[in-house]
Amino acid sequence: MACVQRPLIIQSHIIRLSCPRTARRTSSGLFSRGRLHTRTVTDNDISRLASLPLHPLTLADLVKHGRPPLTTQQLLTSANFTLSILPGRLAHRIQSLRNLPFIVVSNPHVSKIHSNYIHSLSTLLPWAEQEITTLEEEVKFTEVMADLVQTHANTISILARGFLEARKYISPKDVTRFLDEHLRARIGTRLIAEQHLSLHFSSQPHNEIMHEQEGSPGFIGVIDTDLKPARIVDHCANVVGEICELKYGVRPHFVVNGEPDYTFAHVPVHLEYIITELLKNAFRATVESGMERESIEITIAPLPETLLQSDDPEDMETDVISNVDQGNTDVASEHFTGKKGTTDSQIRPLKHSTPGVTIRIRDRGGGISPENLQHIWDYSFTTFNDDQASSTLSGQSSGGGMDVLNVMSGPGGDGGNSLAGLGYGLPLGRAYAEYFGGGIAVQSLWGWGTDVYLSLRGVGKVEEGRTQNRQRK
Ligand SMILES: Nc1ncnc2c1ncn2[C@@H]1O[C@H](COP(=O)(O)OP(=O)(O)O)[C@@H](O)[C@H]1O
Ligand SMILES: [Mg+2]
Repeated sequence: MACVQRPLIIQSHIIRLSCPRTARRTSSGLFSRGRLHTRTVTDNDISRLASLPLHPLTLADLVKHGRPPLTTQQLLTSANFTLSILPGRLAHRIQSLRNLPFIVVSNPHVSKIHSNYIHSLSTLLPWAEQEITTLEEEVKFTEVMADLVQTHANTISILARGFLEARKYISPKDVTRFLDEHLRARIGTRLIAEQHLSLHFSSQPHNEIMHEQEGSPGFIGVIDTDLKPARIVDHCANVVGEICELKYGVRPHFVVNGEPDYTFAHVPVHLEYIITELLKNAFRATVESGMERESIEITIAPLPETLLQSDDPEDMETDVISNVDQGNTDVASEHFTGKKGTTDSQIRPLKHSTPGVTIRIRDRGGGISPENLQHIWDYSFTTFNDDQASSTLSGQSSGGGMDVLNVMSGPGGDGGNSLAGLGYGLPLGRAYAEYFGGGIAVQSLWGWGTDVYLSLRGVGKVEEGRTQNRQRK
């Protein structure tokens, strides 16, 4: 259990340690922004930076600086890599927010997100035209990364509230189009910043804090190269089961089968988020249909060896992560403005022989009606009623309904209870899965139950910064 939670603990250490003592927390609980050097963001900055093409990010990009502790040179390379990609990504998001219908951007919650992005870009601009060449600069830059991660911690619940309030002015399809792109892009931005923060704190030049990282030898930054999906499943199912028992006096059984010893390299907090959302749905359906005697079955199925060892270059062409998967496109903006976006279509192949796994979650909760099935990927589609949704958003959940099952924390510090019953679980879970080339497929047997297939790709066995073939234990 401690192992599963480790990544989250590491992340909170990162935030705590990376803020200067005097500026760590203000009375409002937020980080003080006073100490960071900023530069005013002009419209010119935004259009110039947003015109830079974005490229898909691979897990291999994140581990390429090597296994910590990094040398000074490796750490500076990581900082400069981080700096080279973040300003353009933030500018794309600002532009995309500005291209929403005016009445929607004027909503105080949506406009709060816009100003958060402007703030973060203003802290990056002073760095944008220089190279980070000394450790002192790297330390200051790391403070900027900590501020960025903290500033955007509650984006999802704030946006959810904004779009709920603005729902008269924007259709559910348009909300989904915008949110899908925005939240996918956010996954990347946070990951890039958190990766550098984490590498910073586990590296040679900052070894006074190295003891904080002891006991997590498999980690390269936020990536666990020895991640055991069965352990995450076990932990999340126990947590969701406990909530069920507390509220309903019943706890559906679950079994984990397949290859529970399988390990691969992935981002544990992502897996934890997806699995929790899928299990909440399965547990909820099982309890609501009174089928708690029937076990929920979770099968861990690694991809067949033969699929992974092909040296045929043609196989690589199908192994791609696209800009669409990662929210790097300007589709939402194009839709609202009618103007063509600037994102190029370059697709970088994944390392071939990438290991991976499919996790099937099978419940006997009665399935999803054909009518509902066509909406499950829409942000905010839920079979909860509106009253429950708004009361959980404002933190006044009644405590009597299934909303408690949704009181889970999402990755990146967003309070999960804000998402309770808002219908974000499946679309956001799929965004996390697709981000690195995986996916989620839902198969409903209406009247009987649901099978959900979560597939994830890893990064290969990581050896001194290079990726090799898959591992299976
Ligand atoms: N395993 C499942 N069994 C039955 N219905 C499901 C299952 N998973 C998802 N659903 C349906 O899909 C809807 C959307 O799910 P989700 O995106 O997780 O949002 P939420 O759980 O907040 O409603 C749910 O409200 C439910 O009606
Ligand atoms: Mg859900």
